[in-house]
Amino acid sequence: MSSMSGRPVLIELDKVTKKYEQARGSVFALRNISLKILQGEFIIILGPSGSGKTTMLNLISGMDRPTEGDIIFDRQSILGLSEEKLAEMRRKKIGFVFQFFNLIDNMTALENVMVPLLPEDLSEREMIRKAEDKLDLVDMFDKRDRFPNQLSGGEQQRVAIARALVNDPDVIIADEPTAQLDPDNTRKVLDILKKLNRMNGVTVIIATNDEELVRLSRDVITKEVRLKDGQIQGLRESSQGRSWSEVELG
Ligand SMILES: Nc1ncnc2c1ncn2[C@@H]1O[C@H](COP(=O)(O)OP(=O)(O)OP(=O)(O)O)[C@@H](O)[C@H]1O
Ligand SMILES: [Mg+2]
Repeated sequence: MSSMSGRPVLIELDKVTKKYEQARGSVFALRNISLKILQGEFIIILGPSGSGKTTMLNLISGMDRPTEGDIIFDRQSILGLSEEKLAEMRRKKIGFVFQFFNLIDNMTALENVMVPLLPEDLSEREMIRKAEDKLDLVDMFDKRDRFPNQLSGGEQQRVAIARALVNDPDVIIADEPTAQLDPDNTRKVLDILKKLNRMNGVTVIIATNDEELVRLSRDVITKEVRLKDGQIQGLRESSQGRSWSEVELG
């Protein structure tokens, strides 16, 4: 496997600050964060509750805008992008996976996976074909006609991953994807994310509190970002899940 160094930058956070105004004063959810995410990386964002992980994912994905600084996605600054363009970029390039799966209760697994395709100009047949293809990838094809409440947590999360993949995104962004799962399902979900990264070159960014997830991903992780109080407290990089180096922080 080739080293990371020659790969293009996919997303760059340039001195990003996110401040929330509250009645009691302002909260800095993130302070002056700079980070380059290269194509094909497998990045883990770690940190205690309230350290800014979800805020960082929301900024990376264009779900939220920084108070200061810029985010450059695919060589394009999001500062100049309209909400409409930003939403389109998100829909086409990014797949999301959440802690609580966020499936729609009254839709079957197959229908849930089809949801992101609805704004596209596709025939129903084509939508079904694409959704079934992704359900097969996460080993949920046989249960495609079940509703979420007829599936285990691990199965629901695999359906959610299929939904995240249905638009063939460049990036998968996962916020605590295994927090509700037992060790067996944690391993299954991680195996899928690792496979997507290795075989399909999908960039994976995971926020977690779970050291077990880190241990299980050790062989593919390229960057480990430790957040504390909205700042990067530690950054470890590896070209191929080996030869780790601690990066000095200024
Ligand atoms: N919409 C908001 N308004 C005000 N403050 C917010 C908002 N969203 C987040 N915060 C604050 O920003 C900080 C970072 O929150 P964030 O959700 O990013 O943390 P986190 O690392 O994801 O935590 P957890 O592990 O509990 O999910 C916290 O102090 C939080 O209270
Ligand atoms: Mg969070």
